Amino acid sequence: MTVESVRPEAPQVLEPLSTPPLAGGGVPGLGHGWKLVRDPLGFLAQLRDHGDVVRLKLGPKTVYAVTTPELTGALALSPDYEIGGPLWESLEGLLGKKGVATANGPRHRRQRRTIQPAFRADFIHEYGSIMEEEARAFAARMVPGETIDCTSESFRVAVRIASRCLLRGQFMDERAERLSIALGDVFRGMYRRMVIPAGPLYRLPLPSHRQFDRALADLHDIVDEIIDERRASGQKPDDLLTALLEAKDDNGAPIDEQEIHDQVVAILTPGSETIASTIMWLLQALTEHPEQADKVSKEVESVTGGRPVGFDDVRRLSHTNNVVVETLRLRPAVWILTRRAVTETDLGGYRIPAGADIVYSPYAIQRDPRSYQQHLDFDPDRWLPERSKDIPKYAMRPFSLGNRKCPSDHFSMAQLSLITATVASRWRFEQVSGSNDAPHVGITLRPHKLLLKAAPR
Ligand code: HEM
Repeated sequence: MTVESVRPEAPQVLEPLSTPPLAGGGVPGLGHGWKLVRDPLGFLAQLRDHGDVVRLKLGPKTVYAVTTPELTGALALSPDYEIGGPLWESLEGLLGKKGVATANGPRHRRQRRTIQPAFRADFIHEYGSIMEEEARAFAARMVPGETIDCTSESFRVAVRIASRCLLRGQFMDERAERLSIALGDVFRGMYRRMVIPAGPLYRLPLPSHRQFDRALADLHDIVDEIIDERRASGQKPDDLLTALLEAKDDNGAPIDEQEIHDQVVAILTPGSETIASTIMWLLQALTEHPEQADKVSKEVESVTGGRPVGFDDVRRLSHTNNVVVETLRLRPAVWILTRRAVTETDLGGYRIPAGADIVYSPYAIQRDPRSYQQHLDFDPDRWLPERSKDIPKYAMRPFSLGNRKCPSDHFSMAQLSLITATVASRWRFEQVSGSNDAPHVGITLRPHKLLLKAAPR
């Protein structure tokens, strides 16, 4: 034992917390808002040059942006931040106040306990045959030389898989079709209402407003129909809807009708737009990188020996899986996330006041040259174990982490890999005139208008 080691420790001097620096490029009066509207992705991607945590001015309001993988991990894992802020408030107004995606605290924990089993590995295995059917039907709807409107087709397959797997029902095929039309229209109008919350303006009787109102009403009606029909049938299949109908609140009483309704909406909405956007990016990647499409096709052939690829093959399709992961890295459907500070906190040595709104961007984090070599290259092999070990912790979290982590990460990866394997082993793609694969920034990130032509392999 050295003399030093028994010396009483000097009292720790705590560094005072500092205020995060103001990001550059603000305009007097407007702050950074115009940059976020004009080029949100470019703006968010360069914020780390200004600091690990930076302040943004949106009109008179200050918002805090977190820019490093390590601090986004700390944010997502800390109980000092919850879901909240203007983005969520406008979502609640449209989709309902009692669903899992917007709840906090004990209600959120209870709701997660109810829905989580439906996404467990053994359940996902049971969904395998539905995923296979839908992936094959998607590939079979493609006709050589005919234009594929990837937006509506991707939505169709996403909604059909989510609703058929999670809310099984007799008329689910027809309903899944109606749901995909309603959700497509709702998402188009919702982003505008979230970034420009000009309530009375949207009551003007314009065709686009009427289309949005009709779609939103239709969405809520279809959800009511699904619930009523299940109740009337007296059946209790082992699925998410049964779990919701049987759920109890903290006092052991059945949850109310509004909560059941809002929960179904809160699961169907993130479950369709995110998957649809990712399918579009996967089709775009297979088109832009035909050598990767060939590699996927060869891998499928080597695993299946020529029979149609099935759900049980997915775990052996490691390159196909890496194509999906690399697509999620460069084109994360969820490109921005927000939190609200419950209390005053220290984030990376910076003071975040209670009630502050905080944003971070998986898009910016996952494209950062400080985390990825050749950061903009589409390189699925970077996910080979010998290479991926060098990627910093939390630099690749397209499904988030912590208590708000997407419950559907495995369910999503399974269907995305199966769809990629199914279409790439049957078709080659090229973009046709009128197609525009530039990113469209809305509630999710997706191509503006992806139009493809398929040729058989
Ligand atoms: C939450 C991404 C597919 C249901 C989230 C979050 C992310 C995410 C990043 C966390 C939000 C936050 O931290 O604030 C994705 C991606 C998907 C996908 C990238 C596909 C490519 C799905 C599917 C479903 C689903 C298919 C359901 C069928 C949910 C729900 C939440 C959520 C219910 C809220 C969880 C909570 O707040 O506790 N998703 N998701 N997601 N996701 Fe997903």
